[in-house]
Amino acid sequence: MTVPDDPSRRALLLKLGLLFSGFVSMLLGVPIAGYLLSPVLRGRKAAYGSWVALGAVTRFPPGETRLATYRHPSLNAWDGETARTACWVRRVDDDTFKVFAVNCAHLGCPVRWFAQSGLFLCPCHGGAYYADGSRASGPPQRGLFEYAYQVDRGTLMIRAGEMPTPGSTADASRERPPCA
Ligand code: FES
Repeated sequence: MTVPDDPSRRALLLKLGLLFSGFVSMLLGVPIAGYLLSPVLRGRKAAYGSWVALGAVTRFPPGETRLATYRHPSLNAWDGETARTACWVRRVDDDTFKVFAVNCAHLGCPVRWFAQSGLFLCPCHGGAYYADGSRASGPPQRGLFEYAYQVDRGTLMIRAGEMPTPGSTADASRERPPCA
């Protein structure tokens, strides 16, 4: 038995199909467009070069290394605790600081400061760094990455949006010389 070819029924099905396709496209398109435009909408470029406070300089006694945390400027409000990033602050003297990325220069595990031995140690593959961040031993090819810092009215600030890498503020002189 064949169904009679009803033009009004076919037109209705066509309209329903178009409506459904439009609805699905909108469901998929809005998040994708939001993702693509988010750097523009949220000013991520401004966050990239922004300075973030680590706290009063008095929190960091001369000659000591302390852990500090900050909220990464380019993350979202709903990121919660995951937006908190750690770094190690060494106050060399009254006016000089060194702010190290917490991540090992080998594969990024968080390093820990051991005041007794005066070393940063990495739990993953045994990488070790001296107090000034330079490489002591293990697989890392260089010293710890460093943040740019400044002191603004008694507050230690770091350029946190720009994660320290060999291409940014890293000190290339810390690299291990090539093997002979
Ligand atoms: Fe630190 Fe490998 S990640 S030594």
